[in-house]
Amino acid sequence: MSALEIKTAGNPVLRQVAAEVTRFDKKLGHFLKNMAETMVQANGCGLAAPQVGISKRIIVVDVGEGVIELINPVIVVQKGSCVLEEGCLSVPDFVGEVERANFVSVNFYDRKGQKMNIEGEGLLAVALQHEIDHLNGVLFVDKAKSLSHKE
Ligand code: CO
Repeated sequence: MSALEIKTAGNPVLRQVAAEVTRFDKKLGHFLKNMAETMVQANGCGLAAPQVGISKRIIVVDVGEGVIELINPVIVVQKGSCVLEEGCLSVPDFVGEVERANFVSVNFYDRKGQKMNIEGEGLLAVALQHEIDHLNGVLFVDKAKSLSHKE
């Protein structure tokens, strides 16, 4: 296992629309393991592949219930709204309040290429939306109602 270098705002890879994953091979499994390791080491609750310089539709999320790996995730249902304070490993100096859906249902593939679905509320829903935004070149600072310097 090895931690990957996290790219920060200003790096063009964070603004690209990431490509779909088409090969579910050993290399993907290895990359997912490194992504999870990187997220845990950095104390993040989510990480998207573009944040480590790989413009592919891959995210990992952990809001305290273990690491979830999502490949080619697509939000198929979203409901309600909530405002939570967000931060981002790629925007290390700021936090900000963002309004998002309070519930999402997301279709995705696991590392073996099996079609899966996850439903999430609250923090999990927010984390999923934040990470999926990364795959479309969107950062939380684009959506934040207010930003403040992280202490
Ligand atoms: Co982020």
